[in-house]
Amino acid sequence: MTTRGSWGTRLGFILAAVGSAVGLGNLWRFPWMAADNGGSAFLVVYLAVIVLVGVPGLLAELVIGRRSNRSPVGALVSLADSDRWRAPGLLAVGTAVLLLSFYAVVGGWTLRYFLTSATGAYFAEPGAYFSGASSGLDAFAFALAFLALTGFVVYRGVDAGIERASKVMMPAILVLLVALAAWALTLPGAGAGVSFYLAFDLATLRANAFDILPAAAGQALFTLSLGCGTMLTYASYLSEDRSLPADATAIAVLNTLVGVLAGLVVFPLLFALGDGAGAGGPGAVFVSIAAAFATLPYGQVLGVVFFGVVLLAALSSSISMLEIPVAYLVEEREHSRHTAVAGLLSLFAVTSGVCAFFPAIFAFVSGTLVDLLLTTGLVGFLLFVGWVLGKDAVDEFRTGAGDFAGRLATPWLYAVAVVLPVFLLFTLVTGVLGALGVTVADVALGGVTVSGTTQLVGVAVLLALTAYATLRRPGSAV
Ligand code: TRP
Repeated sequence: MTTRGSWGTRLGFILAAVGSAVGLGNLWRFPWMAADNGGSAFLVVYLAVIVLVGVPGLLAELVIGRRSNRSPVGALVSLADSDRWRAPGLLAVGTAVLLLSFYAVVGGWTLRYFLTSATGAYFAEPGAYFSGASSGLDAFAFALAFLALTGFVVYRGVDAGIERASKVMMPAILVLLVALAAWALTLPGAGAGVSFYLAFDLATLRANAFDILPAAAGQALFTLSLGCGTMLTYASYLSEDRSLPADATAIAVLNTLVGVLAGLVVFPLLFALGDGAGAGGPGAVFVSIAAAFATLPYGQVLGVVFFGVVLLAALSSSISMLEIPVAYLVEEREHSRHTAVAGLLSLFAVTSGVCAFFPAIFAFVSGTLVDLLLTTGLVGFLLFVGWVLGKDAVDEFRTGAGDFAGRLATPWLYAVAVVLPVFLLFTLVTGVLGALGVTVADVALGGVTVSGTTQLVGVAVLLALTAYATLRRPGSAV
């Protein structure tokens, strides 16, 4: 066995985990999702999902990781003592590979914008520049450069590479974002952006609740890096004296702070330029925001700072994605870290090449496919914790946690075993139906019309109750 890596300090782990969480999800995907789904209405649902689903889900991954001291495949197989759990583990590794394949392309755009902001190359025609940069040979070249940077850090290992890089990158991101938000808020017209983003708006929320929910749930999982074993793997490098509930809370709070701050940079900028939120979309950051820098004084400096933040955030996330297949190859396949990193980089040269040259594949992978796989993956981890680990999960949760947090362990287990999987499957089904344009027809039951939504909620509640009853039967795991 090779000696496993481990974190040097408590702060090191938190910063690396926050580094994984804070990424393009916060700075690129979040403002885009919020703009498409009603701004403040989306923000409210998103925050609720982070607290009610994100934190308990994150804890599930941390519990599996620290309990097993292995990366996803080895973790599930060794804890369950059964090969049946190999497939879900491999699914997680595969999801991480897909994820990095498209993430590297966006990381490449970021790298390019960071470099070209200095000369103002995109200032004349931001829209046309982005179309040229977003796919094709150029996009591929920058994706490769981004992958090389990622590989360099992962190659150096857990404490000397990932931890050390995170300790520099995370504070830099926070300081620069606060400065950017303070500046953006002083722009004329910024107020409209702030109220689109922060004014609570019940009417929009009620009218669109079932469109907003799957989008908010998908975004919450993506931003907390849940569903493909990133957090699980990072927790496997932890020792026993740490409070997992405290760490999970710290990670979620810091990540949310950065997401909300990013919104306070992006929305004031979009509104100040008169674009409104409608100019969001996947190009929001690279077209609308880039256009803002073109018209503003000191635009080149601001561009370098802004895209520098995005680049750092993207790198600390891509590092955490690469670490999953690397850990798998090192632990389960007995490769050295060096060959694992080198081999995987050649694989990614192909897969991110496909994403760089074929925009349709890129769109499918980065949208629907990743949402589906991450949700499925997280449901797998939750069911594992609830139904396979059971009491052991409660022990692991309590290890290192104080009395107060310890008392939350049992309610948490029920949530993880029953409530959250049902909720996630519900969002999965509504999300897929929505994407396919299918609606569940209303049914008239004894004179009362039951809407499609009510039917789905009813099925979800029934499922939850059945699962709960099974879990309570004598001799079961809990
Ligand atoms: N959370 C990161 C972001 O917001 C992306 C990320 C890193 C991720 N590791 C992950 C997403 C694992 C899902 C699963 O950009």
